[in-house]
Amino acid sequence: MLFYNFTCYYAMKAEYMQHNFDKILDRRGSGAIMTDLLLERYGRDDLLALWVADMYFETPAPIREAIERRLAHQIYGYSVPAASYWASIIDWERELHGWKFRRGEMTFIPGIVRGIAYVLQCFTQPGDKVVVQPPVYMPFLNLPRDNGRQVVYNPLIWDAAAGTYRMDLANLEEVCGKESPKVLILSNPHNPAGIVWPEEDLAAVADICQRHGVLVISDEIHADMALEGAVHHPFQTVSPAAADVSIAFAAPSKTFNIAGLVSSFCVVPNPRIREPFFHYLEANEFDGPLFLSAIATEAAFTQCGEWRRQMLAYVKGNVDFVCDYLRQHVPGIVPVRPQASFLIWLDCTQLGLDHDTLIDLFVNRARLAFNDGVAFGPGGEGHMRMNVGAPRAMVAEAMQRLEQAVKSLK
Ligand SMILES: Cc1ncc(COP(=O)(O)O)c(C=O)c1O
Repeated sequence: MLFYNFTCYYAMKAEYMQHNFDKILDRRGSGAIMTDLLLERYGRDDLLALWVADMYFETPAPIREAIERRLAHQIYGYSVPAASYWASIIDWERELHGWKFRRGEMTFIPGIVRGIAYVLQCFTQPGDKVVVQPPVYMPFLNLPRDNGRQVVYNPLIWDAAAGTYRMDLANLEEVCGKESPKVLILSNPHNPAGIVWPEEDLAAVADICQRHGVLVISDEIHADMALEGAVHHPFQTVSPAAADVSIAFAAPSKTFNIAGLVSSFCVVPNPRIREPFFHYLEANEFDGPLFLSAIATEAAFTQCGEWRRQMLAYVKGNVDFVCDYLRQHVPGIVPVRPQASFLIWLDCTQLGLDHDTLIDLFVNRARLAFNDGVAFGPGGEGHMRMNVGAPRAMVAEAMQRLEQAVKSLK
C-alpha cells in the first residue's frame, strides 16, 4: 500500500513536471496573429507581443496527439463528428459548472464572433438596437455597427472600493425601456477586466431582459479560466428567466490554446429561440465542425483537466507577479486584478498622457505590443490590455521594459 502510494505520488509528480509553462516558443513565422501582424498593426515588428488573446503555452499534448493520429490517416474528406464529441461537451459543462443541457439544445458554431453575427442576422433587422457594456471586447461594438445595427451603451461602473467594475443594472432597465433594444451582448466572464459576474447580477440582467423582450447573447469563451477562488456562473444556470432569454456561446479555444482550430458551440434551451436559430444555421451550413476541431475539443474536455488546473495556477502566478511589480515599481499604472482568464486591464490614467503619447510610450519606448484600451469603447481611454498567458520570463521582461519606459518620461 505504502509502495502504491509512493508510486502514485511520483506518477502525479511526473505529470506535474511535464507541463512546463516556462518554455519559450518562437511563434514568429508560424502565421500567428500575435507575432506576424506586428508590423501591420504597430508599425514595427521588434516588439514583445502580449496583445491577441491566445497563449504562448504549448497546446496540451493529448490534443496534439489526437490531431496527429487523425492526420496520419491519408484521407481528409468530409467528416462527421463522433457522438463522443457532443458527449464530451455536455459532460464537461455539467461537471465543471453544473450547467446541464441536452444534445438537442446545442450545436457547433464556427467561432463565437461569427456566432454573434449569426444571431444578429437571424433575430434583428438593420437599424435595430444592440446593448453592450463597455469597456468590452471590441467585436461586440464593431459587429453590430458593421452589420448596420445601432449600438446602445450601458457602460460599466468603476467601483473604486472593490477595484473592479460592476454592471449598471438601473441604467440597463432604463436603456431597455427607452431604446427597445433587440439584443444584449454579455461577456461572461468579462473581457477585458476579467470579471466573474456575481450570480445575482446575472439573474437581474435576465429579469430585465425578459421583461423588455431582449435576447441575451452570453459569450462564455473565458468560462473555464476562473482563477483561484472565483466561481464562474454560466448565464443559463442562474435562473429560469436566464435560460429562457438567452443564447450561450462557449468553447475550449481559450483555455486549451486552440483558437486557430475554431471549436465553439452554442446552447439554446428555449425552443422559440432555438428553432429559428438552428434552422438558420442548418440552412446556411454553419453548424458542422471541421474534423480537427471536433477531435481537439473531445481531447481537451476528456484528457486535459490536469493541464488546465496547472495552467491556471501558472497564470495566477503571472497575475500576482504583474500586480506586485506595478505596485512596487510603476505605481502610475494600476492593474485591475482579473478573476478569470489571462488578460490584465491596466489603468494608465494616472500617467496623465494623451492617447498618442500613451501608445508611443508602450510601442516605441517600451517596445511592447499591448491592446489599446480605446478599442474597447467608452471607458477604455487611458487603458491598455496586457496578455499574461505567457512564460514568466516574458511577463517579467515586459514589466522591466515598462518600468524603464515610464522612468524615461521624467
Ligand atoms: C469575449 C470573447 N469572445 C470571443 C472571442 C473570440 O472568439 P472566436 O475566436 O471563437 O470568434 C474572444 C477572443 O479574444 C473573446 O475574448
